[in-house]
Amino acid sequence: MEKNTSIHIPILLTPIVDALIEPFVKAPKPAWILDLTFGGGGHTAGFLNSLPPEHGVIGVDQDEGALVRGKARFPEAFASGRLKLLHARFGDLDPETLAPHLDGRPVLGILADLGFSSDQLEDPARGISFLREGPLDMRLNPELGVTAYEFLRDVTERDLADIIFELGEEKYSRRVARLIVESRLKGELPKTTLAFASLVERAVPPPARQGRIHAATRTFQALRIHVNQELQELDHLLESVILNLEAPGRIAVISFHSLEDRKVKQKFRGDERFEEQTRKPIEADEAELELNPRSRSAKLRIATRI
Ligand SMILES: C[S@@+](CC[C@H](N)C(=O)[O-])C[C@H]1O[C@@H](n2cnc3c(N)ncnc32)[C@H](O)[C@@H]1O
Repeated sequence: MEKNTSIHIPILLTPIVDALIEPFVKAPKPAWILDLTFGGGGHTAGFLNSLPPEHGVIGVDQDEGALVRGKARFPEAFASGRLKLLHARFGDLDPETLAPHLDGRPVLGILADLGFSSDQLEDPARGISFLREGPLDMRLNPELGVTAYEFLRDVTERDLADIIFELGEEKYSRRVARLIVESRLKGELPKTTLAFASLVERAVPPPARQGRIHAATRTFQALRIHVNQELQELDHLLESVILNLEAPGRIAVISFHSLEDRKVKQKFRGDERFEEQTRKPIEADEAELELNPRSRSAKLRIATRI
């Protein structure tokens, strides 16, 4: 019996399941789908329900808590070995590292649903929400790397402004960086999310504080992407992890940032070992947007290994 404690709603579930299941229908032997961003297990649930029973899913997440919840959500699939759970950063799963986990079976599907889950956003201890008081941490794997606070303690004003501009697309990046560094010089660098959000808010001009989104949204996004090395992880995925896929398997990537979508598009179009199935990225329709506002900026691209 499935007991789901995740609040995360899987995005673009039907097109993803339909596209990734297809190569399995005629597969001559048992194979795997690699769900590189297991999260709440929403897409994995779709795969387990639709895959013929001899095939299975390997769920990967850098957040151990997600995997603990996943074990409880799919006890039978986990006990039978139809679902394996792997605590790792997907950027580390090149073909040599993954091979021992495959039991000699091919990978015929890969999903990467980038970024963070709603479970992580709502967990104050993660420090990724500007609406929940928590430590200014932002790491999705608390065992790795430096916290957002530690990064802000050491970064130069110029580098900080560049990061906020590029990863957050924040047009007031220089003002935000200046105020952060000024607060640091006074020994007042905020240690918590709400205090940091209000500092960022003060850096933008008053009219920009009245917009549709919170004035700290872009800066939080930039720091989260930087602290978790999300673009570097995507680069490794597209250079190496993707080579785990055997023909005629499919890969689907959901991205939430134009820089990410561009990287995925360039790979799917520029590498002759892959054929893009989506001339334009698939986006959520009105019904999905209403049910799940988080799907608003999602862009899905799918390619086949040839
Ligand atoms: C958007 S959520 C995935 C939600 C999932 N598809 C579902 O429907 O429940 C992204 C998940 O991927 C994980 N993640 C992000 N980057 C990762 C990386 N480089 N390696 C491993 N896991 C990662 C996050 O910890 C988070 O749990």
